[in-house]
Amino acid sequence: MVEDTGRVTIRRGLPAGAELRAAELYWEAFGRKLGPALNPPEKAVPFIAAHLDADRAVCALVDGRLVGLAGYQLDGRSLTGGSAVDVLREYGWVSGVWRVALLALFERRAASGQLVMDGIAVDGAARSIGVGSLLLEEIAAVAAEHGCREIRLDVIDVNLRARALYERRGFTAVRTVQTPYLRRLLGFGAVTTMRRAVRRKGR
Ligand SMILES: CC(C)(COP(=O)(O)OP(=O)(O)OC[C@H]1O[C@@H](n2cnc3c(N)ncnc32)[C@H](O)[C@@H]1OP(=O)(O)O)[C@@H](O)C(=O)NCCC(=O)NCCS
Repeated sequence: MVEDTGRVTIRRGLPAGAELRAAELYWEAFGRKLGPALNPPEKAVPFIAAHLDADRAVCALVDGRLVGLAGYQLDGRSLTGGSAVDVLREYGWVSGVWRVALLALFERRAASGQLVMDGIAVDGAARSIGVGSLLLEEIAAVAAEHGCREIRLDVIDVNLRARALYERRGFTAVRTVQTPYLRRLLGFGAVTTMRRAVRRKGR
């Protein structure tokens, strides 16, 4: 259990050797949503770990251990990856085609001047003390340094806690797409896009 953020270090980039731990945190946070595409977990976690772009994360560490991370897409590169060919190679053609189609539902493209968030996950034992907020502010600093005008993210309707956090950190909802056909399969029935303007340095 982490009691306060006093021992938390925020850094840019995923430390070398922390890929599996990062994938475990992602899976714990997003396994319900990604499960139908990447299950079983013993295959999914190494697959995620093997296709991370370490340069597209901000991380929270306590005594050198990863307790949270936020991924982002910028200039065409995202924290999480794995092409259709990678999926087919790992899972085979029979189920692979279906998996690729499901993963395509989660694909997002950043418009010019946008940083798109690629998931934020904090270890269950380190939640509610401000780690998620620190990660979001570091993401905002990255966006400002890259001259982005806004940060964009998607949040699903069942994740009220994350949405409340985003609203507290200055994000506003701009659009909600109803996806009732996904509720049974992926556990959510709507996706809301949120945006936060980036304050440029010196403005
Ligand atoms: C959403 C998530 C990233 C938030 O991370 P977090 O580290 O708990 O976020 P914060 O601590 O900054 O803020 C969350 C809560 O802590 C409270 N809080 C923030 N700083 C605090 C502090 N210093 N002391 C006590 N409480 C604090 C906030 O009021 C907030 O209240 P809540 O418990 O009602 O949510 C985390 O819950 C998570 O990993 N969830 C699973 C993955 C997920 O849903 N990701 C988002 C997908 S869109």
